[in-house]
Amino acid sequence: MSDYKRYLVTAALPYANGPVHIGHLAGAYVPADIYTRYLRQNGKDVLFICGSDEHGVPITLKAKAEGVSPQDIVDRYHNQMKDSFARFGINFDIYHRTSAPIHYETASAFFRKLYDAGEFIEKTSEQFYDEANQQFLADRYITGTCPHCGNEKAYGDQCEKCGSSLSPMDLINPKSMLSGNAPILKETKHWYLPLDKHEAWLKKWILEDHTEWRTNVFGQCKSWLDQGLQPRAVSRDLDWGVPVPVEGADGKVLYVWFDAPIGYISATRELTPDWEKYWKSEDSRLIHFIGKDNIVFHCLMFPAMLKAHGGYILPDFVAANEFLNLESDKISTSRNWAVWLHEYLDDFPGKQDVLRYVLTANAPEAKDNDFTWKDFQTRNNNELVAVLGNFVNRTLVLTQKYFDGKCPDAGILNDYDTSTLAEIAKIKSRTAQSLEAFRIRESLSEAMSLARLGNKYLAETEPWKLFATDPLRVATILHVAIQITANLTILMDSFLPFTMKQLRTYLNISEMPWSAIGSVDLIKAGHQMEKPGLLFEKIEDSQVEYQVNKLLETKKANEAKSVGIAPAKPAISYDDFSAMDIRVATILEAEKVPKTQKLMKLKVDSGIDIRTVVSGIAEHFEPQEVIGKQILLLANLEPRKIKGIESKGMILLAEDNQGRLIFATPEQAIQNGAIVK
Ligand code: MF3
Ligand code: ZN
Repeated sequence: MSDYKRYLVTAALPYANGPVHIGHLAGAYVPADIYTRYLRQNGKDVLFICGSDEHGVPITLKAKAEGVSPQDIVDRYHNQMKDSFARFGINFDIYHRTSAPIHYETASAFFRKLYDAGEFIEKTSEQFYDEANQQFLADRYITGTCPHCGNEKAYGDQCEKCGSSLSPMDLINPKSMLSGNAPILKETKHWYLPLDKHEAWLKKWILEDHTEWRTNVFGQCKSWLDQGLQPRAVSRDLDWGVPVPVEGADGKVLYVWFDAPIGYISATRELTPDWEKYWKSEDSRLIHFIGKDNIVFHCLMFPAMLKAHGGYILPDFVAANEFLNLESDKISTSRNWAVWLHEYLDDFPGKQDVLRYVLTANAPEAKDNDFTWKDFQTRNNNELVAVLGNFVNRTLVLTQKYFDGKCPDAGILNDYDTSTLAEIAKIKSRTAQSLEAFRIRESLSEAMSLARLGNKYLAETEPWKLFATDPLRVATILHVAIQITANLTILMDSFLPFTMKQLRTYLNISEMPWSAIGSVDLIKAGHQMEKPGLLFEKIEDSQVEYQVNKLLETKKANEAKSVGIAPAKPAISYDDFSAMDIRVATILEAEKVPKTQKLMKLKVDSGIDIRTVVSGIAEHFEPQEVIGKQILLLANLEPRKIKGIESKGMILLAEDNQGRLIFATPEQAIQNGAIVK
């Protein structure tokens, strides 16, 4: 890592279409944060860049679903996301947004430069168009039947049932999600980045010069390169995004995957006038942290854009994680299958580091992994509490007890003491090695081995049994344990920043650089420490059950939705309920309302009066079927004229997910006018 003068670390710009969840943290933000904190501990010149990705179909779809504008959506989520990251200690130098003017300017200029240099090809092709809405349809806006599995609700880019990736033309009976109509094909012009022209250098750059990239990244790139690269459209017919900055491109915007990575550049420009030093000098190292679905864009497309533009450095490492599942199911914003950071903080206030720890210890670096609340509890209780917390607590409490919180003299070290202390430097170098190779999960486990070592040291030396007979030996043991503790504050700082800060206040020391790790007199004899509290506390079974139940409820709600059961309505008060006057009534007469399909005119005996009610049941029942039936009547619904007939009240019926209607009736005959309550 020594050859580089400065580092530019980016974490994928998340779409501003929902709050941040554990999948985001585990995929990119926690590992990127650990890595940059480590670089800073080493005195490196680092910029850590992120921001909201505010364009693209995920945003417009969400806006459409809620009936608000895309701008409303991104304004709502941008600040919430920024806040969640900050509260979890993700130490970005800037959390920017792609709706910012400087981004529009940067992205347009970037496109324009490529356009002027003839780096694009223009192509006219036929695309699906919704005539009613006068709009071209993004892949996600088209649904139809999957040609592979027959799922009738497949999307134009993917079938979520069988997982095949599709193109809209593959769908059988395509339909526009905007109008519900079958779309027509219409010609449209777009600009394409000819990736095929970049194939040769990309091949050499990745397959020969970057054999150190992770298997998942290298493998995906290789498979794309082996299949041969195709030109990729960099514009879209959409009214949300950065307008294509050329004549005659009305209604066209830059493809979100063209503008978003330029967001890294515009964010850096916003951050510092020195931005070019980071982006344009060969002695800067550019590193991307992303999730696996972003690999092609960061390894092929963005590098091709940078190369075509000229002057920019290319990423030297792309740390892409696989996916994190939640309790064996894919995390999904739209299905609400996630642990949302703001909810986690409500349920586990102050426990950011516990989540950072669990997500790192179980990071999906080489394969998809599963987050379970049980594992969360186990790692907290058996590792953070029982190992790290226990070691530190014993050390600090015994020092208070025997030495009034002053670090005792080292005295005479025996072989065990010396060999224990000698381990610190070895653990340091193993942790560093793993971190520098982006094996973050392994680096955490190396760092934890220092806490294990300390725990074992105390368990074997048992200072609590020796004070009466050998206080000098106890002094030595605690002196050693205190040095280990001080080393831990540096070694674990990037992983558990909140906890290590706390620990530094207990030890009454300030932050120290990575190079100090290994020193065995970080804390001098006589140094006064503070009264300690606990670094971690046990997570109880009841807390785990609460979280698991919350997920079970989500699952139930999703199942209900998928079989067509309407979601629950918000709670009402008892008063709201009792305001309704529901009575048992008998239908006396019934006839269809002429010139209507659905309506039936009923004469009913409500017990209070004989009245007329118009009901939408004519497609479901014949008049003679309903005459004489005892039914339930909402008697005090405001009278309404329907087709010229005054209707007083409403008959209650149940409707199932197929639209079938069934009368709500008393189980046995009862007096008309009986109150239902
Ligand atoms: N918004 C994309 C996603 O969430 C990531 C964009 S990364 C960037 O998958 F490079 F384009 F910024
Ligand atoms: Zn399918």
